[in-house]
Amino acid sequence: MRDILISPSILSADFACLGEEIRAIDHAGADMIHIDVMDGHFVPNLTFGPPVIEKLRPHTKKPFDVHLMIAPVDPFIHAFAKAGADILTVHPEAGAHLHRTLQAIRAAGMKPGVALNPATPASIIEPVIDDIDLVLVMSVNPGFGGQAFIESQLRKVEQLRQMIDRTGRDIILEIDGGLNAETSPRAISAGVTAIVAGSAVFKGGPTAYADNIRALRPSVHA
Ligand code: DX5
Ligand code: ZN
Repeated sequence: MRDILISPSILSADFACLGEEIRAIDHAGADMIHIDVMDGHFVPNLTFGPPVIEKLRPHTKKPFDVHLMIAPVDPFIHAFAKAGADILTVHPEAGAHLHRTLQAIRAAGMKPGVALNPATPASIIEPVIDDIDLVLVMSVNPGFGGQAFIESQLRKVEQLRQMIDRTGRDIILEIDGGLNAETSPRAISAGVTAIVAGSAVFKGGPTAYADNIRALRPSVHA
C-alpha cells in the first residue's frame, strides 16, 4: 500500500482565524494544506489570493497545495511563488496554453499540477504528463465545499493510475470533492495517493480534527 497524503481544504475552515486553523490541522496530522483559490469567473465563488497565502505561510512548514480555480493563471504565477505555494495546480480550461503555463510554474520554483473537472477526460494530461508532479481529479464540480461525490470519477482515477505508472515517475494522484470516511478508501483502492477533504476534516471543530484526518486514512479500514 502506498503512503496516502491527506490535504485538508481550508475552504471549510473558520476564515476569521485561518492561521490558527492551519496550525490545528498541522498538529492533527495533515500532510499538506489544500488552498482553494477562486475568482468568481472561472468558478461561481470567491475566496482569497496571494496576499492571504503569504500571511498564512509562517503558520506551518507543511507544503501548500494550491488549487487555482482562476482564469487567466499566467499573470499570477510569480505572486503565488512569492507567497509560498509549493504545488500550483491549474485547470486546462483556464488558459489557451497549458504547456506554457506548466513550464512557467516549474520555472518559478513550484511543482506543477493539472486539475481535471468531472467532464474533462484523463487523456488531456497525456501530452504534458512528463511536465507535472500532480494530477487532481475533481470528484465534484469546482466552486463549493460540501457537495456529493461523483462516482464516475473513480474510473478516471483508475485510468490515470495506469498512465502514471507507465511514466515510472512519482506523480501525486489526488482527488478532491466529497471525500469522507466512506468515499476515501474507495478512491485509494482506485489508485489515488492524496486525499483532499474540507467538510470531513473541519466538522466538529479543532478537537475533532485528528480523528477526522485518521478516518480518511486506509489503515482504519484495513
Ligand atoms: C471545491 C474545492 C474543494 C472543496 C472540497 O471546488 O476544490 O477543495 O473544498 O470540499 P469538500 O471536501 O467539503 O467536498
Ligand atoms: Zn480544491
